[in-house]
Amino acid sequence: MLLAGELYINGEWKKSKSGQTIEITSPYLYEPIGNVQAITQKEVDEAIDFAQAAQKEWAQTSLQQRASHLYKWADALLANQEKIATVIMHEVGKSLKDAKSEVTRTADFIRYTVEEALHMHGESMRGDSFPGGSKSKVAIVERVPLGVVLAISPFNYPVNLAASKLAPALIAGNAVIFKPATQGALSGTKMIEALHQAGFPKGLVNLVTGKGSVIGDYLVEHKGINMISFTGGTDTGLHLAKKSAMVPLVLELGGKDPGIVRQDADLQEAAKQIISGAFSYSGQRCTAIKRVLVHESVADELVALLKGEIEQLVVGSPENGSTIVPLIDDKSANFVQGLIDDAVNKGAVVVTGNQRKQNLIHPTLLDHVTEEMRLAWEEPFGPALPIIRVSSDEQVIAIANASEFGLQASIFTKDIDKAFAIANQIEAGAVQINGRTERGPDHFPFIGTKGSGMGAQGIRKSIESMTREKVTVLNLAL
Ligand code: G3P
Repeated sequence: MLLAGELYINGEWKKSKSGQTIEITSPYLYEPIGNVQAITQKEVDEAIDFAQAAQKEWAQTSLQQRASHLYKWADALLANQEKIATVIMHEVGKSLKDAKSEVTRTADFIRYTVEEALHMHGESMRGDSFPGGSKSKVAIVERVPLGVVLAISPFNYPVNLAASKLAPALIAGNAVIFKPATQGALSGTKMIEALHQAGFPKGLVNLVTGKGSVIGDYLVEHKGINMISFTGGTDTGLHLAKKSAMVPLVLELGGKDPGIVRQDADLQEAAKQIISGAFSYSGQRCTAIKRVLVHESVADELVALLKGEIEQLVVGSPENGSTIVPLIDDKSANFVQGLIDDAVNKGAVVVTGNQRKQNLIHPTLLDHVTEEMRLAWEEPFGPALPIIRVSSDEQVIAIANASEFGLQASIFTKDIDKAFAIANQIEAGAVQINGRTERGPDHFPFIGTKGSGMGAQGIRKSIESMTREKVTVLNLAL
């Protein structure tokens, strides 16, 4: 059955006056599964007007009132977990098990966000701690909402990475304009259907879907938007940063996370973590391990272990619970294949993989990758993992930091002092010691440096980024 996505504006589901829709094709069923509305700019204006009006009242409600709506939303997501997960599977080709965990993780995220906000308090300051100041001045510092938040989410976690923007925005007293990636918009719509059941005030959350060419820049430059939270590709993030003027911005972009394996690492454990880090959901995660920097003295052993692990990965349809699934579209698969071909043409050795059927790329391990090859630097967002052999920690740090990206890094070693010494020098938002690169647990700060983003996410950080401090000064007659 085809899913007919609608806009959600002022608490109502409606078709766009444009009369146009965008077809959504499943990346593994290879047939249309539904469509979403192509909104007009005028309808975007209306959605933002409604959001502005609703936000003013919402900001006046108590935290407990806001919390009760968010808890209901989390409950509704879980009550509809199977249905939502099935749409995620069909739309973005993620296994049902992973899609279901995405829904559970989202409900957990929403609840934790509420609890975090309930325990965030402002501070007060007396004037007399500054030279010449007086006790009669008391500053009350509180967090206030920013207004209307534009939340733009990517295809790979169409529910979780959307809710991780909506929940902190809402609990903090903001309204939201939610623009999902078009591939992912049906899953986003299901998430909003659950939110609708939670009885939020009309106009507080509005779902807009449409063509980037019509509404992309229009939304970002819109005077009614007070904050933008974007997760997606680095090129789009950069474009967005140039277009948005004087609007607080949080960007979570691409990565080229290195898995660093020292000569003293537990190689079996490192191999397991690297495989899970690199190949889950076919590597379509910004936090995937996207290159291995291994000491030459243990490289042969590690490569053999990785090969053994890769050959056990289930490849195929997400309906069979496969780890390696067809990529989101043919364009993405062509890009990954281009990186593999470039490496092979320049002398990289195919250890396993380099097989392709349409957009299904088998997990591919390439050894003896050098700095001349594109795969050493570019982000595949697919199941192609380069092995770069190194001879020292200094070389590891130099290669790790030569990347345009700086999301995360993993260091595998039994020497905790060395691990810290390397971690201190790695330019990344987070360094994992003896574990795979990953965003969770979701209350940890999640930060990208360089081309990987700006600002910080993670539950508390997201609430902070969607609020600002406001100071009220009492001048007492003491
Ligand atoms: O690709 C987006 C990123 O947030 C992935 O999250 O939890 O799989 O590391 P996670």
